[in-house]
Amino acid sequence: MTFQDPSFILFTILIIFLQFLAATTSLCRTFCNNIPINYPFAIDDGCGAPQFRHMLNCSATDLFFLTPSGSYKIQTIDYNKKTVVIFDPSMSTCSILQPHHDFIMTEIQSVTIPPSPDTVFVLMNCSIDSPVLNHYRSLCFNFSGHSCDELYSSCTSFKLFHILSNATPPCCFTTYDTVKFMSMNILDCTHYTSVYNVDSLKGVGPLDWLYGIKLSYNLPDLGCERCAKSGGTCGFDVETQGFLCICSTTTNATRDCGNK
Ligand SMILES: *[C@@H]1O[C@H](CO)[C@@H](O)[C@H](O)[C@H]1NC(C)=O
Ligand SMILES: *[C@@H]1O[C@H](CO)[C@@H](O)[C@H](O)[C@H]1NC(C)=O
Ligand SMILES: *[C@@H]1O[C@H](CO)[C@@H](O)[C@H](O)[C@H]1NC(C)=O
Ligand SMILES: *[C@@H]1O[C@H](CO)[C@@H](O)[C@H](O)[C@H]1NC(C)=O
Repeated sequence: MTFQDPSFILFTILIIFLQFLAATTSLCRTFCNNIPINYPFAIDDGCGAPQFRHMLNCSATDLFFLTPSGSYKIQTIDYNKKTVVIFDPSMSTCSILQPHHDFIMTEIQSVTIPPSPDTVFVLMNCSIDSPVLNHYRSLCFNFSGHSCDELYSSCTSFKLFHILSNATPPCCFTTYDTVKFMSMNILDCTHYTSVYNVDSLKGVGPLDWLYGIKLSYNLPDLGCERCAKSGGTCGFDVETQGFLCICSTTTNATRDCGNK
């Protein structure tokens, strides 16, 4: 085989192609459809932070946040503000009424990535025996000048509560802690919805509220910055959960990738 030999040229092309494949077939996918996946999140096991292991699922069309109560479609991830907006497909909104459904997070999730303080849970059509109308009345508040009456009179779906009962059924704007400590059955309200970015909804009617749950995460820097600066991808050992800096498909380091 010589340099001019066609088989040598083919062989060379094959080697270059294989190297290209190895470089692009990274261990940690950085996108799910059009949503960027960066630390601390990951869709491949061993990538990202172990605290967020098994929390995301990437399907052919969507990215989901997994909790014990279901899979919630991720709408956006803001890595600067450290927030994730998810949507509960079984909750009610301005255009659809659906029977209540618990929103349950694991203990780890409620500590590492809880709903943000500017996310409000709205319990609707509560029975007069509901704890939030009695002993726990103080858990309800009006947000940004909005009241339940306004909700029941504005959207097609919520108007139904007015129409079907002659009175205005009670409702309650509350925080995630209320639904965390009391299940929907205990709360005794037939429907719920959730609204985020509530601080910017002053003077904005329910038709234009942002329906969904905004989660807010925070993690101490566990050495990821150093690894990323050296060109690595942050991950962890799937057995020990110890930090790993993934330098290439064949090399992992405990801190950084050095200056190769
Ligand atoms: C490097 O770490 C990743 C993530 O834990 C793992 O999938 C991979 O097999 C490791 N590679 C080596 C060469 O140890
Ligand atoms: C992730 O989604 C796929 C298909 O959408 C599904 O088959 C799989 O069971 C899901 N995994 C988890 C852990 O929910
Ligand atoms: C509102 O709640 C009552 C029970 O408290 C229930 O009978 C009624 O069907 C609910 N309304 C709607 C629209 O689901
Ligand atoms: C919320 O607003 C309604 C109507 O404006 C009012 O009747 C109610 O007392 C307010 N509730 C609280 C807890 O401030």
